[in-house]
This record gives sequence, structure tokens and C-alpha cells, in this order.
Amino acid sequence: MSAPTTAAILGIETSCDETAAAVVGADGRIRSSVVSSQIDRHTAYGGVVPEIAGRAHLELLPAVLGLALTDAGLRRRAPGLEAVAATSGPGLIGSLLVGISEAKALALAWDVPFVAVNHLEGHLFAALLDHSGPGRSPDDGAAGDWPLVVALVSGGHSLIVAMEGPGRYRLLGATLDDAAGEAFDKVARFLGLGYPGGPAIERAAASGDPSAFAFPRALVDDGLDLSFSGLKTAVVRAVQKHPDASNEDVAASFQQAVVDVLVAKLVRAAQTTGAGAMCLGGGVAANGPLRLALEAAGAELGIPVYLPDRAMCTDNASMIAAAAWWQLVHLGPSPLDTAADPNLPLRLLP
Ligand code: KG4
Ligand code: ZN
Repeated sequence: MSAPTTAAILGIETSCDETAAAVVGADGRIRSSVVSSQIDRHTAYGGVVPEIAGRAHLELLPAVLGLALTDAGLRRRAPGLEAVAATSGPGLIGSLLVGISEAKALALAWDVPFVAVNHLEGHLFAALLDHSGPGRSPDDGAAGDWPLVVALVSGGHSLIVAMEGPGRYRLLGATLDDAAGEAFDKVARFLGLGYPGGPAIERAAASGDPSAFAFPRALVDDGLDLSFSGLKTAVVRAVQKHPDASNEDVAASFQQAVVDVLVAKLVRAAQTTGAGAMCLGGGVAANGPLRLALEAAGAELGIPVYLPDRAMCTDNASMIAAAAWWQLVHLGPSPLDTAADPNLPLRLLP
């Protein structure tokens, strides 16, 4: 087997219900990316069961790691890596511990640095990994499009962030209640569409009428914070009032409300910060109608829109390894006693 030609970091992601490992080169190139979804283990419960997730990570991680190394053309026992990185938070504590412990053990065994990565920062890096805009390489902090404004919309978080460069984040707004993905998941469960809710709603909505119900667009004309719990309640009330409404119409109208709000907020964020581009990150960024609507808004505003590949929006380890590269070069390795932190906040500019 040939030796690696470029330095590479192994990233591990186990914060929720995906067991993932990836190898990313110093040039930002993804050399391998393996994601093992646990969806089938949680479906019967209608959502992620933390104990099941933790045990499943333990069971799946060795095979996922082995595959990520061999896919990248590296030897399993002596891969010659630059560092080993893992998500240290936010996420489910039992799940985080599996990945972070494995990464520390491998870093010790291979005598290379360990890098603890914030999952949210990983999602922000996903927007930089996969397009030809700024930050194509993890060292590239000086391109002309900064700041980028990013809607980081996942199952646990919904933030509007101004990214002034890799590692330089300002929080512009956040959800006051449910995360966008959480709203998709709750509405899907209510409609009996299954878990995870986002893809299920998107599928149902494809044959529905987005104007069938005029659901509220909370705070749409007001600042950069978000709110989705009133929308979820409005869906429940509408279905109770119109029990024979089609799931497709309800799903399409709900999805349109989320899309309208997220696009309006990101446009406002771009206008108020003079951003050079708009981006999406996190699982909800995989949503087709949201991607199309943001592209259209970008064209109207005359600024580019950077969308990570759909697979790069949902949880994966490439984004963790990419963030780890920047962190290793600019902030150095993490101590081996770094703890997993279920509530780890995004490191913001002062
Ligand atoms: O980033 P992610 O994989 O995990 C977290 O960090 O939370 O995001 C998962 C969330 C779930 O709430 C899921 O329903 C949502 O992203 N999601 C979607 C789509 N795919 C995943 N929401 C809307 N449309 C999608 N296609
Ligand atoms: Zn995530």
C-alpha cells in the first residue's frame, strides 16, 4: 500500500444519530467520508433515543473508522495522519463521549495531536468545503466575499451567523423556541409522516399546495431572531379544524412558511451586514425548496449563494475534519483532558 502523499486529518462525528468518520487533506480535499445512519434504530420511537444512540455509536464506530481510513488509501494501523479530531459538543453526552474517547485514544496511540471540534462550527465549515468561493482551503481567510451570512438550521439549533472568516463568527439572531429542524420533526410526527421529519415533509410537500393554508411567518418583519413554535401550533389547530385536509397540502404550506421566514431573515442579515454571500448549513439546509428560494433571493440581491452538497448539510465528519484543520493551524491542538460538553456554545467574536 502506498504512503499518503499529503497531510490529512481524521475526523469523527458522533454527536447525535449519525456515526461518521472522514479523512480530509490540508488542501481541503475530502479523501473519504463515511456516514452510518442509525435512523432505522430510532424510527419505532419517533425520534432519537439517547441511550440507543450511544450504544449504536459504540457498535458502529470501529467499522466506520476502518472504512474511512481504507477509503482514503491509508493503513489502519499506521495511517500517518497529522491529527485526529472529534466533535466535543454540543450534542448527546453519551454519544459525544464515544467519539471523543476514541479520537483521544487514537491520537495517543499514533502520537499525533487531538483536536476537539464544535459541531456548530463544523456545520459552518461545510459551507466553505464544497464550493469555489472563499475559504476553499481551510487556511484561506482573506477572500473578498466576507462576511458571509449563514443560516445554521439543524435539529437542535437555528442561528443566523455572520462569518467574517474561518473561526470569526458574530451571532446575528437565534430561535427563541424550537429549532427549524425540530419544527419539521414535530410537524411530521403530528401528521404521521415518520422520522426524520425534514425529508418526510419535503416528500409529502412535493405534491401539495403551498398556499393551501396561510400559516404564520413569525417575526418575519422584525429583526433577525426566529420562532417556530407558533407555526407548529398553527399546523395542529388547522388540522383539528379541517380534519380532511390532505397531509400534502399541510406539509407544503408548513414548509413554505419556514422557507419564507429563513430566506427573509438571511436577506435582511445580508443587507444589514453588507455580506458578500449567503450560505446555509445544518440538516434543514438539505431542503430543496429552501435551497431554490435562497438561490432566487441571491440572484435578486446580486450576491452569490453558497450551498453545501445535501450530504454535507446533514451530520458528517468531513466538516469536523475541515474545521479541525483550521483550528490546528490557528489555535493549536486541544488538551487530552478536553471534556465532552452537551451545551458547548459557538465561540463568538468579542
Ligand atoms: O444537522 P443535522 O443532521 O443534525 C443536527 O445537528 O441536528 O440536522 C437534522 C435535522 C432534522 O431535524 C431533520 O428533520 C432536518 O435536519 N432535515 C431536513 C431535511 N433533511 C434533514 N429538514 C428539511 N428538509 C430536509 N430535506
Ligand atoms: Zn448537526
